[in-house]
Amino acid sequence: MASATTSAGAQSFLRSLAARYGNIAALQASDVSSVLTVDASSLSTSHLSSLFRHQHVALHVKNFLSPSASASFASQYSARAALEAKNWQVSTSRGLESSDVATIGTPGNVAASNPDPAEQQAYHDEVALTLASYRASPSPHPFSLLRLLLDDLSPHGCTLRKSPSSRLPYSPGLPRLTTGPTRYRSGFIHVDDLSPLDDARGTFSANVYLQQPAADAGFDGIPNPGGLRIWPLRYSKKDFYLNAPVLSALTSSDPEDQAVLRQSLEGPVDILPEAGDLVLLCVQRPHCVVGFREGQRVSLQSFLEVAEGQPCLIDS
Ligand SMILES: [Fe+2]
Repeated sequence: MASATTSAGAQSFLRSLAARYGNIAALQASDVSSVLTVDASSLSTSHLSSLFRHQHVALHVKNFLSPSASASFASQYSARAALEAKNWQVSTSRGLESSDVATIGTPGNVAASNPDPAEQQAYHDEVALTLASYRASPSPHPFSLLRLLLDDLSPHGCTLRKSPSSRLPYSPGLPRLTTGPTRYRSGFIHVDDLSPLDDARGTFSANVYLQQPAADAGFDGIPNPGGLRIWPLRYSKKDFYLNAPVLSALTSSDPEDQAVLRQSLEGPVDILPEAGDLVLLCVQRPHCVVGFREGQRVSLQSFLEVAEGQPCLIDS
């Protein structure tokens, strides 16, 4: 009871701070980042470096895969999803609900937080088999191509994240499948890492798009089905506390919090990736995937941890 009272008191204090000093529009206005679009054939270290220093909200790499390679991997993963895909549940005020996204394989953070050594070993055995299958793939696997690209072009190269205890690798990423109709029509706004932006480091995602829903598969009045929306936004620790009622909603799945975010955030940047494109973005900025009525979105997603002077770490 005492802690509930304390928590209610803290929330009331943060709400009164936000009412007096909060200003989300100013946090957005201070971030003038745009999307950098480059063809895969001309991608260079300077493009990656400017993304990693947060000078762009996203790096959209066109033609990373050929149309035939995208279609071939998309159909392989669609077929496997029927048997293997897992839907990770999200916590809301109504309890656990299924998210729009199903993955093939276990996310690295879920594996790392499992205290059972036997289950951790089983995860790493599964990853070893998957990596061997990528090396044996008759056409280069997109995750292998992504790792090569990041190793070649990142200032300090790229390596798979390894378990601190066993030194065995986590997977480089996971296939993600979303099938319409999606639960969130306009998309689920969130950040994957709530830390303030820091020019010397960051958490990024890399998505290789294998298949997108049709252009006319959107819900009424909501354009860009399956596209990405990113909100330029930059805040310090102090800004976070002055705007806590809105910014803390960025890690919440509650419909009420999503409504608060939609009302408060302005001026999103839209990206409509096509099959074969690669999009990298800093997941510390608010973002969402726009929902759709029908069809299936298939992508391969990795997370990247980038820090100045160190190799980029890739995992799922
Ligand atoms: Fe995300």
